Amino acid sequence: MLCLGIETSCDETSLALLRDGRIATQCLRSQEDLHAIYGGVVPEIASREHLRAIPGLLDQVFSRAEASLEEVEVVAVTRGPGLMGSLLVGMGLAKGLVQGGNATLVGVDHLQAHMTAPELTQRISYPALGLLISGGHTRLYLLRSNLEMDILGRTLDDAVGEAFDKTARLLNLPYPGGKYIDRIAAFAEPDTTMFPRPYLDNTNLDFSFSGLKTAVANYVRAYPGLALQEMAEEPDAEKIASDSPQLATVCASFSWSVSQGLKIKLERALRRCPETASLLVAGGVAANSVIRDSLKGAAEEHGLELILPPIDLCTDNAAMVAHTGAVLYREGWYHDLSLEAVPRGRPIPWDYLRMPRLDSPRMEH
Ligand code: KG4
Ligand code: ZN
Repeated sequence: MLCLGIETSCDETSLALLRDGRIATQCLRSQEDLHAIYGGVVPEIASREHLRAIPGLLDQVFSRAEASLEEVEVVAVTRGPGLMGSLLVGMGLAKGLVQGGNATLVGVDHLQAHMTAPELTQRISYPALGLLISGGHTRLYLLRSNLEMDILGRTLDDAVGEAFDKTARLLNLPYPGGKYIDRIAAFAEPDTTMFPRPYLDNTNLDFSFSGLKTAVANYVRAYPGLALQEMAEEPDAEKIASDSPQLATVCASFSWSVSQGLKIKLERALRRCPETASLLVAGGVAANSVIRDSLKGAAEEHGLELILPPIDLCTDNAAMVAHTGAVLYREGWYHDLSLEAVPRGRPIPWDYLRMPRLDSPRMEH
């Protein structure tokens, strides 16, 4: 079975073909450089660039997989949450392909796709605890299966990647600055008293990073020479750390505080869900070395394996969308052309249609 995945929810245009559950090919074009000039994703530029990138990627994905459009049985597309204009580009493509051919349409929840991505590389034992840490989302889920997920906690303000990027900005590091904070932090030890551990003085499983961000802002204000004088296009982490050990300590301490915030909430969730059989982490921030080490430690302490997909399956990608779409399709779920896009902040409805063949009495035996 050939499934085409389409992902255009934010600033990455990605198409992937899955053949019988395995990635045949995946193509991706990132707009990161374009948005870097503005210090964040500009929605109108994002949708225009998706439209520009899609024809080339479509040719590429089929030629690399040596497949043709006629062979596609399922078109799986991210229907939200995301930037409305960006989602509509992918949805328009998906609906056009379905209308012009024989494929079945399956709209996919982007967050569910992130959480099922680890299945592309290994078998997952359920129930699993899933932590999604990206530039747009910070969520903790209990996954009963690859189709049933209960939300346990979410961020009340910034997503964790956003907190990294805003902190990087305070230090005059370019957007998206999470990876530079990570690289600079490698040259220092954290000062565990420098910043508060975020939003732990409660009994819930939600996250909040705005207090931590303010603490960094106050610290930077107290030391006027601390932030970099000029914003380099590609900062040299080693040089920055040797010129300013204090700045490196800020990066290490901030990363430590964030990692503690995530780890402690995760451990709290593990205590509440003792049936947990595995621990999944997804999203671009899963690349952070301090967070990886601390989550690995938490997993070991609880005798669980920490499952981190390769980084190109952690960040936004179409293979995860194709996989989730294929799982849904195999279970008999699909959409018709009335499928709607869902913007950020609105829940994704379970509005799938049921394939009649799966409901027929013959199939029950
Ligand atoms: O999953 P992703 O591509 O997210 C969205 O587009 O939502 O992740 C991007 C986010 C950005 O905020 C970026 O700064 C952050 O992940 N990020 C990191 C690292 N690599 C990427 N944050 C901390 N440390 C890293 N090594
Ligand atoms: Zn994402």
